[in-house]
Amino acid sequence: MDIKTFSNKGLDYDRAIEIADGIFWVGFYDTSSGLHCNPYLIIDGDEAVVIDGGSRPDFPTVLMKILQTGIDPSNIKALIYQHYDPDLCGSVSNYEDIIGSKDLKIISDKENNIFIRHFAVTSPLIAIDAINSQYQFSSGRTLQFIKTPYAHCCGSFVTFDAASGILFSSDIFGSIDSHWDLYLTMAPDCRTCTTYDPCPNGKSCQIPGILGFHLRTMPSEKAMLYALEQLAGIDFSIIAPQHGSIIHQPEDIITVFEKLKNLKGIGIDRLLNSRQASAELGDLSKLISRLQEK
Ligand SMILES: [Fe+2]
Ligand SMILES: [Fe+2]
Repeated sequence: MDIKTFSNKGLDYDRAIEIADGIFWVGFYDTSSGLHCNPYLIIDGDEAVVIDGGSRPDFPTVLMKILQTGIDPSNIKALIYQHYDPDLCGSVSNYEDIIGSKDLKIISDKENNIFIRHFAVTSPLIAIDAINSQYQFSSGRTLQFIKTPYAHCCGSFVTFDAASGILFSSDIFGSIDSHWDLYLTMAPDCRTCTTYDPCPNGKSCQIPGILGFHLRTMPSEKAMLYALEQLAGIDFSIIAPQHGSIIHQPEDIITVFEKLKNLKGIGIDRLLNSRQASAELGDLSKLISRLQEK
């Protein structure tokens, strides 16, 4: 097993990869998709939790990697879902079947649980508010949950593991890109570049995939900024997103933070910016007159 090298060299993406002590990437390296999903397994003693477990079609691959770590699935005590999209929640009932424990907990925000129950779960759905926004292993190790509402779901949140310094950021810092490696590698001039498309140096740059993902997935510039503000207060050193690559170099974290902070035209903002000047928000007069004529 490849341990904590923060290097993509020699990584075997058909295996679970240990990114920190007892923390494993158990994702599916799907060469035909630009949207790679990154479920993570945290093992603490003889207990484990899974963060953003993955889609239903990815489940056989993800389960194989969980088994490669040596953990008995019945020792998975909790499934943490940082929002409710099918790319991370789709396999929740498969997990319940494999884990087979009445003590299994499914943890998310109450706003997500409204939707997660429709994935046909049978385990109790625990709201993060009800557990003081933290999950505690028997050892005392604590995972802290920080809300990032509307980035991109109403109930979105991130998870911070102080023991490793890893921030599991779900869709924030994600990417959609046909080129993928587990760890982000950014050339120094990518940090100051403003014309990524095409790359002036003809290199394979991961920044356009990150910015493009946020432009289409996040609802607005305000939601993006609010989420970044919440994350800025967390004492993390590594970002492990649910899509794209793990960001571990301080300079790269700063660069991506800055670029997302200054990103314009996110989600609905792009649409509103391109509206004709005469279009007024909330102008329902045409609808009202049509209905009044009926
Ligand atoms: Fe999502
Ligand atoms: Fe996602």
